[in-house]
Amino acid sequence: MKKPTRPIWINEKDNSIINVIDQRYLPHRVDVFDLKTKEDVIFAIQTMVVRGAPLIGVTGAYGVYLSLLTAKDEKELISDANDIKNARPTAINLIWAVDEVLKAISDINDFDKKKDEALKRAKEIEAFEVECSRSIGEFGAKIIKEISEKKGGKPVNILTHCNAGFLATVEYGTATAPMYIADEQGTDIHIWVDETRPLNQGARLTAWELGEKNIKHSVITDNTGGHLMQHNMVDMVIVGTDRTTHTGDVANKIGTYLKALAAKDNNIPFYVALPSSTFDWEVKDGVNGIPIEERDGDEIKFVTGFDEKKIREVLITPLKSKTVNYAFDVTPARLVTGFITERGVCRATEKDILNLFPEKKKR
Ligand code: MRU
Repeated sequence: MKKPTRPIWINEKDNSIINVIDQRYLPHRVDVFDLKTKEDVIFAIQTMVVRGAPLIGVTGAYGVYLSLLTAKDEKELISDANDIKNARPTAINLIWAVDEVLKAISDINDFDKKKDEALKRAKEIEAFEVECSRSIGEFGAKIIKEISEKKGGKPVNILTHCNAGFLATVEYGTATAPMYIADEQGTDIHIWVDETRPLNQGARLTAWELGEKNIKHSVITDNTGGHLMQHNMVDMVIVGTDRTTHTGDVANKIGTYLKALAAKDNNIPFYVALPSSTFDWEVKDGVNGIPIEERDGDEIKFVTGFDEKKIREVLITPLKSKTVNYAFDVTPARLVTGFITERGVCRATEKDILNLFPEKKKR
């Protein structure tokens, strides 16, 4: 198999199949998973075959196209689209992308034509996410370069949480895009990669991505960041987000809030990298208004790893212990230094966000 360069693509031989990298088994195995039906799409999103806000959105967009291959009528299409939108609650990209496809086909009556248009729109959304990531990378790399110059060219130490890389988007990533571009430009960087319990997206996915690109990195436990910050070993934090309110509150992988608090206490810039598809233009209060996904407690009780022969799951808690597994938390705007978006960098205030996206101002 040719090594995939994107986490999602249309099957070369049969365009009624969408292929994705099965992220559950990375970095130990690069498996490809077939999406043929709306049920496959929902399964893939819920079980984290695909994950990361922009990629979930792109997958949902292709999901509407797949639904059109079998849906009998408009009622079934809308019901499928709603099921896809509800597959995971926090990442707003999923709702946005599904609605974008529905909007594009709403005036078309013929189902064959609807199908063609849905595929076209899903491809456009995929291309849009790539463009956004590239621009985020360029704007973010400038910030990294400034820090590098202040340090006289010594390595810039960047801490990141979870995986906001190409696996979570389509190319470049959001949080990782500035790292990739800075590296391409010759800026010396080193990344602190939070392991990101319970599913270890940092240890498994971010470390794999950075390793593939030969970018210096060290995997750390989730609780190490504060210590590193107190000892001047972190120059900046860059994270992604699953949903950010237009007032600047940031939902991201559980544990992000604690990193932001530690960064504030140590006067370290805390940046959030995101495309416009991740902004929530309705919800004002992120802590009380963003739905936070609760996942199966077995993700905490069991750890998946590789023993040189097989990928295995092992139990690490007493079998009967109770668990609580919130997947995301919300970092209030006051702890965020700035947003790195496809249109540029702005402060985490409603005014500054709307100045970058004036078309979202309510009349
Ligand atoms: O549960 P996941 O793995 O889907 O969570 C992903 C994250 O929290 C990412 O940081 C976020 O989606 C940003 S992706 C560019």
